Amino acid sequence: MQKFYIETVGCQMNVLDSELVCSALHQAGWQQVDTPTHADVALFNTCSVRQHAEDKIYSALGRLKEWKGEKPDRLVGVLGCMAQKDQKMIFSRAPLVDFVLGPGKLHILVETIEQLLASHPRSAKKVFVSLHRTTDNHADVLESFRMYNPDRTITNSQDAALVCITFGCNQFCSYCIVPFVRGPEQSRNPQDIVNEVKHLADKGVTKITFIGQTVNSYRYQEGNKTAHLADLLYQTSGIAGVEQIDFVTNYPLGIDGGLIHAVRDLPKVAKHFHVPAQSGSDAVLERMNRHYTAAQYRDMTDRIYGTIPAATITSDFIVGFCGETDEDFEQTVDLVKYCRFRNSFIFKYSERDGTKAAKFYADDVPDAVKRYRNNRLLEVQVDISRQHAAANDNRTI
Ligand code: SAH
Ligand code: SF4
Ligand code: F3S
Repeated sequence: MQKFYIETVGCQMNVLDSELVCSALHQAGWQQVDTPTHADVALFNTCSVRQHAEDKIYSALGRLKEWKGEKPDRLVGVLGCMAQKDQKMIFSRAPLVDFVLGPGKLHILVETIEQLLASHPRSAKKVFVSLHRTTDNHADVLESFRMYNPDRTITNSQDAALVCITFGCNQFCSYCIVPFVRGPEQSRNPQDIVNEVKHLADKGVTKITFIGQTVNSYRYQEGNKTAHLADLLYQTSGIAGVEQIDFVTNYPLGIDGGLIHAVRDLPKVAKHFHVPAQSGSDAVLERMNRHYTAAQYRDMTDRIYGTIPAATITSDFIVGFCGETDEDFEQTVDLVKYCRFRNSFIFKYSERDGTKAAKFYADDVPDAVKRYRNNRLLEVQVDISRQHAAANDNRTI
């Protein structure tokens, strides 16, 4: 039996994509192994959101030189967002790579591997990337949805599963590469989603997490009716076997009354919102192209806590964004204290080629300052997280 190894970095989109890749390869008779040592194919599902994520993959690829040298017939494939961003450049930076497949092309992974293994000598290196936003061929993009079909297999006996409800992103936050590598936002047909959840529940899955870059922008129009995320929560709550439903990641402006009420009223839906704020300074938020002010963000958390007192909120922050002053940063600290997040993911700004921020703003906060702000914000957050944990312990005693 032929063996494959897969390494995954990045967000839950990638986690799900890797799961689907594993499931397709298992169906084709492949066996998954935990290290590349005895693998015939090594796959890397990559992320481009920060430089660090890319560096990690290039060094992992570098470490495979000897492995590939031992048996040159072994294949190395790069999948995911870096495949879309760097395309053919990957072959020059890492010459041992045999093929590159962007996120919209995973459905042809198995045939690509089989063709390459059958070709002697192994001549053409293949690059398939998903199509560009402007020239998007919808039939092709829809074909890539085949991977997410309602009847997908589950590789392990698992009790939790990710279900993708929207692909891509239309927000174009000035720092972010995601809209360039994942394409325009598209929502799946609600019936397909419901069928997928039913299928997963039949296989023993009890916890469902709906995922999307801006999951609360989910919208699907049929006739004169538009389905929203709240409608999906109602529909899937009725499915036997489903015990818990969660959804990530939310965009602050789309947290409306309909969604908050659905979360409050549906016992199976986790009373939790992950809503990245990114910064507490209006000047920074404007340069980030986030379309809201810190006051609007605070209002949004007030509405959540006001409607669901036991709700928890988590967030993401970028520190050291272009032009961020000490005062801007203090406003972020204030926001974290005000909103009492259960947890926050904090990132140092990493300039991404091709984004608006890379073109128009200087990456002018020194790395030492970014590091300091990162640690400081983390301390503030850890303190609040501890208070949440203590309050929780008290409740259970
Ligand atoms: N779609 C989600 C998550 C996007 S990526 C959202 O909109 O919230 C996850 C997180 O990575 C972001 O929330 C942001 O905090 C961070 N991030 C994105 N681009 C970044 C960059 N260029 N440098 C540092 N952090 C970044
Ligand atoms: Fe990136 Fe902004 Fe889209 Fe999130 S909403 S994926 S941060 S562009
Ligand atoms: Fe990374 Fe792509 Fe997700 S860039 S954060 S893996 S959408």
